[in-house]
Amino acid sequence: MLVLDGKTTAARIRTDIQEAITALRQEGKRAPGLVVLLVGDNPASLVYVRNKEAACQEVGMTSRVLRLPADIAQAALESTIAELNADPEVDGILLQLPLPAGLDAQRCLTCIDPTKDVDGFHPENMGRLVQGLPGLRPCTPAGVMELLRQYAIPLAGKHAVVVGRSTIVGKPMALMLLEAHATVTVCHSRTPDLAAITRQGDILVAAVGSPCLIREGMVAEGAVVVDVGINRTAAGLVGDCDYAALCAKVSAITPVPGGVGPMTIAMLLHNTLTAYYQHTGRTEASCCCSSPCTRTASHPRTAGTTTSASFSPTQNPSTGQMA
Ligand code: GUN
Repeated sequence: MLVLDGKTTAARIRTDIQEAITALRQEGKRAPGLVVLLVGDNPASLVYVRNKEAACQEVGMTSRVLRLPADIAQAALESTIAELNADPEVDGILLQLPLPAGLDAQRCLTCIDPTKDVDGFHPENMGRLVQGLPGLRPCTPAGVMELLRQYAIPLAGKHAVVVGRSTIVGKPMALMLLEAHATVTVCHSRTPDLAAITRQGDILVAAVGSPCLIREGMVAEGAVVVDVGINRTAAGLVGDCDYAALCAKVSAITPVPGGVGPMTIAMLLHNTLTAYYQHTGRTEASCCCSSPCTRTASHPRTAGTTTSASFSPTQNPSTGQMA
């Protein structure tokens, strides 16, 4: 049984990114810049934002957290985003979700310049994913794809079952698996007899935010299991899968913590560096990865560039429940 080690894999990606940024700085160029917008004081968001900021600093990116009051007006939040869109030193804008009640997250996400949308949540970038066009991809599913790639898990012709249909994980995950030529089934809260379907998966991705939902009888012998869940329980952090029980049956599995979570942050850094390359007009097909990168793509809005871009994010508390 293979443990798909996201912690080590993500550390390798971060080192590649750090080296790329060191080289840029030695050439006298500015560092890539990320701004995280944190509205209100949701405790889980504070932790996520702190982790993102620390990761940026570790690789030499400029990161700034803009803390805004929970009672900020929609118009004021949108004009803050517009200012960041116009700031040439800002390559990535991340609006931490969920937003406090009364604010329209979708409208705010749509205000973000798609070339700075390092979360990949802008409708233009989502549309690009649907159409198989290059663009910034949501960090969590992109992290899953990268982890599977690093472990050379074959996807073409395999049956991939995704449990969860969130906009942030389930839906883009299904599209990325489809793009990798898997046959994809998406299950959700209205799926009758979930186990009958999950048992068919050569690859099973659980992204619902329900502790230990996927039990031993729900997976096929030899399946590859990816657990996107991060659930805080009395017993500590647990995923959507019963890890200990599944280990005896599957061929590979991601642990929680140390699986998909670190990959999500690595993909955020990757997206920010990609956005930077595009903003600075870098034209060579460059990527932060030392190995050949399947995430490479370009955003046609920034003319003449053929740099890498991918879209992928962490478990989102606003969409954590099985939808
Ligand atoms: N909240 C929890 N995870 C995420 C994420 O990856 N991106 C954003 N924007 N908000 C989140």
